[in-house]
Amino acid sequence: MDELWAALQASPVAAWARSARWGYAALNGAHIVGIALLVGAMVPLNLVRIGAALGVGRIPAETAARLLVPFAGAGLVLAVGTGAVMFAARAGEYAALGVVQAKLALVGAGTLIALALHARHGRDMQRAGPRRTAAHAALSLVMWLTVLGLGRLIAFVG
Ligand code: HEM
Repeated sequence: MDELWAALQASPVAAWARSARWGYAALNGAHIVGIALLVGAMVPLNLVRIGAALGVGRIPAETAARLLVPFAGAGLVLAVGTGAVMFAARAGEYAALGVVQAKLALVGAGTLIALALHARHGRDMQRAGPRRTAAHAALSLVMWLTVLGLGRLIAFVG
């Protein structure tokens, strides 16, 4: 695995990210825009799903999904793309950090779960029944907020 990180770190894009001060700042800024789009869509979407499952929500989950899923998807693509380049810049260092490992595992798991849900239910996100839907939405909420916290933590432990 160490060879993979070394090769990634020696790549031209990683060298650019290390040397381009404002380029790196722009990359970091775009990462935050991606995070804002992703978390800014996932929090209300999951709260609406929980409300609908508990029978107290006023907005249909399908309407919320129609509006918010495209923003969440665009945000995820932007966060993953920019995050990958920032990771490549210091791949060896980042890969050794538990915080980074946990964050990447949660991003992977969260993405796979979201894709599986979408493939099975489309926008009819409540089809799994109220208890499962509420549990899934609460888990999704906690997962993405944990990713956000772990991402911010990298600067303090690295
Ligand atoms: C494959 C996906 C991702 C990779 C490889 C990645 C990688 C990175 C890297 C290398 C940094 C810079 C850390 C530092 O040295 O300070 C960072 C920062 C951060 N990431 Fe990610 N990231 C990914 C996805 C996400 C997602 C989905 C979120 C949030 C939901 C997120 C939240 C954050 C936050 C909050 C920061 C700190 C930004 C700052 O304080 O300037 N990341 N990420």
